[in-house]
Parts: sequence; structure tokens; C-alpha cells
Amino acid sequence: MTVLILGGTGEARALAGILDDAGARFLSSLAGRVSRPRLPVGPVRIGGFGGPGGLAEYLRADGIRAVVDATHPFAAGISANAAVACRRADVPLLRLQRPGWSGEPAADRWIWVDGHRQAAEAALCREGTVFLTTGRQTLAGFTGPLRRRTVLVRVVEPLDVAVPPTWTVLESRGPYGLGAERALMREHGVRVLVTKDSGGAMTRAKLDAADELGAAVVVVRRPSAPAGVATVDSAQAAAEWAVATAQ
Ligand SMILES: NC(=O)c1ccc[n+]([C@@H]2O[C@H](COP(=O)([O-])OP(=O)(O)OC[C@H]3O[C@@H](n4cnc5c(N)ncnc54)[C@H](OP(=O)(O)O)[C@@H]3O)[C@@H](O)[C@H]2O)c1
Repeated sequence: MTVLILGGTGEARALAGILDDAGARFLSSLAGRVSRPRLPVGPVRIGGFGGPGGLAEYLRADGIRAVVDATHPFAAGISANAAVACRRADVPLLRLQRPGWSGEPAADRWIWVDGHRQAAEAALCREGTVFLTTGRQTLAGFTGPLRRRTVLVRVVEPLDVAVPPTWTVLESRGPYGLGAERALMREHGVRVLVTKDSGGAMTRAKLDAADELGAAVVVVRRPSAPAGVATVDSAQAAAEWAVATAQ
């Protein structure tokens, strides 16, 4: 039996840890987007498969018996590819996805939008610094609308595009604590936080800090998941499914 974990998230690393402890055969796959990725335990392959056709071929060639798509909620491309490829190769697929933040007590005070362009427009609602935390790949949607605003943009990897002169780029990687987030937002006079609905605890503190400081919060809703794929929200449940399915 071999289980393929499509990873790049804390949940994927947790799943690899549980499968490793259980003595299961598995392999984690990373896209190769970041230069120093946090690696899960066990074997890892890095790089794209070449679309759904390439992934289907990979599943057949490597005798994969079950796939857990534990990629980030906003990595919609690979999730769609996994759904198509698993159907084609007749390999069972499970989605492991952490819950979003829509159930948080303050969520009904936040401004929920469907995409990054709408988020940029919504961020213009207030004067003061905009704290942009939606990731390097989303910046094209913000540089135009927010070109005259003071923006603090936080990214994991160095940017390969120029940003407006009024923007400050901060390179760092979570997890972030409430005290540090509060201090950072105070230091930069943040009045608007822009985030996507990533969910999870690692980057959640910024929401509490923004609420405390009375900053507006703009949240990009998650892209829709491929239809018909069973989903769990815990690594333990995914591990139990994987072991039972791949036997
Ligand atoms: N998007 C985010 O905000 C975010 C945040 C944290 C971590 N991540 C992680 O970073 C990775 C890339 O995210 P993305 O939003 O750029 O993905 P994406 O747009 O959904 O995927 C683009 C392409 O990258 C390749 N790919 C993505 N994830 C892969 C994986 N785990 N293993 C092998 N190939 C993969 C696939 O290439 P081929 O078509 O060639 O197979 C896919 O078509 C994901 O694995 C995700 O879990 C993403």
C-alpha cells in the first residue's frame, strides 16, 4: 500500500507523522514553491505532476492506493487536478481541510469578499495602513488599487515584483502570537487587515489583534472545493481513512 499526501500544510505534516507512527507506507508531495519548505517526516517528492493527466499517470505508475489532498484551502488548482486524476486512475481520494474562520465570534463584523480584487476595493474603506497578508501570489490584485496607500505586506518568500514606494515588505513565516501581532500592527498604524480565510491557528492571532485595535478586517472567502470529494478536518481521521483504504 502507498498513500500519496498532497501537502504543503501543517495538516499534511501532521498526517505524515501519524502514518509514520503507524508504520504505513506513504509519500508526501510538495509543489516546490518555497525555497526552504518545512518538511514532513518520511519520503518527500517535490514539483508539479504536469496537470491532471500527469498526476493520473503518476498514480498508476507508482501503485498509489489512496490519495489525501491535504493542500492549502486556497490551492484550488491542485485540488481540482487531484479530483480529476483520481477519477481517471480509479484511486480513492479524501480531502483533509482545516475549518475556516467564518465561525469565529467576530466573523460577522468582518467584510467577506469573493476574490482578491474585491478585497483590494474593500480595503479602501478606511484611511491608515493596510496590512496585506494574502500571500505573494495574490499581490497583482492589490498593487494597482492600493498604489497610493501605506501598505504593510507580509510574505514568506522574497518578492520578485516591484511594489509601490509607499509599501513596506516584511518577510517572515508564522506561527504568529497575539502579542507580536498587536505590536506589529501598532507600530505600523494598521487600520485595515486583509486576509484570506486560511483557517487554523498558525496565522489566526492577527484577527484577534485587529479586532482589539479596532481595525477593519477584510476576508477573502475560500474557493469552492471540487464536487463529490469526501472531506475531513482532522489529520487523525484522514490517517484512519488512508490506512483502511490503502490496505
Ligand atoms: N495558496 C496558498 O495560499 C498556500 C498557502 C500555504 C501553502 N500552500 C501550499 O503551496 C502549494 C502551492 O500552492 P498554490 O496555491 O500555488 O497551488 P495551486 O495553484 O493549486 O497549484 C498550482 C500547481 O502547482 C503544483 N502543485 C501544487 N501543490 C502541489 C503539491 N502538493 N505537490 C505537487 N505539485 C503541486 C501543481 O502543478 P502540476 O499541474 O504541474 O501538477 C498545480 O497545478 C500547495 O501544495 C499548497 O498546499 C499554498
